[in-house]
Amino acid sequence: MPREPRPDVIAIDGPAASGKSTLGFHLAQLLGYLYLDTGCMYRALTLAAIRQGVALDDGAALTALADRVDLDVLPLGDESDGRQYTVLLDGQDITWELRLPEVDAAVSQVSAVAGVRARMVERQRAVGRRGRVVMVGRDIGTVVMPDAPLKLYVIATAEERARRRLRDRLARGHDDNDYAAILADVIRRDHIDSTREHSPLRPAADSIIIDTTDRRVDELLDEVLSLLNEVAA
Ligand code: DC
Repeated sequence: MPREPRPDVIAIDGPAASGKSTLGFHLAQLLGYLYLDTGCMYRALTLAAIRQGVALDDGAALTALADRVDLDVLPLGDESDGRQYTVLLDGQDITWELRLPEVDAAVSQVSAVAGVRARMVERQRAVGRRGRVVMVGRDIGTVVMPDAPLKLYVIATAEERARRRLRDRLARGHDDNDYAAILADVIRRDHIDSTREHSPLRPAADSIIIDTTDRRVDELLDEVLSLLNEVAA
């Protein structure tokens, strides 16, 4: 058996719409690794809270919900609707509901609860321990998988990120598309994510910064593949 030459856990963090999910997904496809977007787990919990009427400012109730929720993230099968994975909540496919504006609006608050984070991190580490995974989020390199051999921190300007979000929303047929409001929301979420008390968004000391502003995905993939080869050498 040839030795696995590549580091088999790749941690990718960065702010909303920085391009980390696109990069992580394609990288995982190229390497034949599992792709885990940890943001979808916080989003799924947020959707469950909204549906079950759990108050978004009740940390204990949100933590209890995180304990009992039946949440599954499945790798891409033969679906052709542009998804990168399938998320099941109590057995029901909620992958697209995760992008609803009400989830966008509430998820930062839910993911700031320490008890919620502890439950999610535990689930994420269980996936990480199995290896061959590209894990994407906000605290993967700092908290979830601090020993990952390759850590990337992906950034882009707030304006570029707002433009990408607008493009995504147009592609999905939303008609409430106001660039200024989207930009304000990107900045608002950055602020909440990077100033929260528990696991604030920040690069790990040993992460490599990748700026995706005005860069194509194939260029970025080439750059990351050469980084991988350096780490493996
Ligand atoms: O990447 P995203 O927009 O789907 O993330 C949704 C929210 O979850 C966002 O407010 C940040 C939070 N999050 C987090 O706190 N930790 C992670 N590892 C992933 C996401």
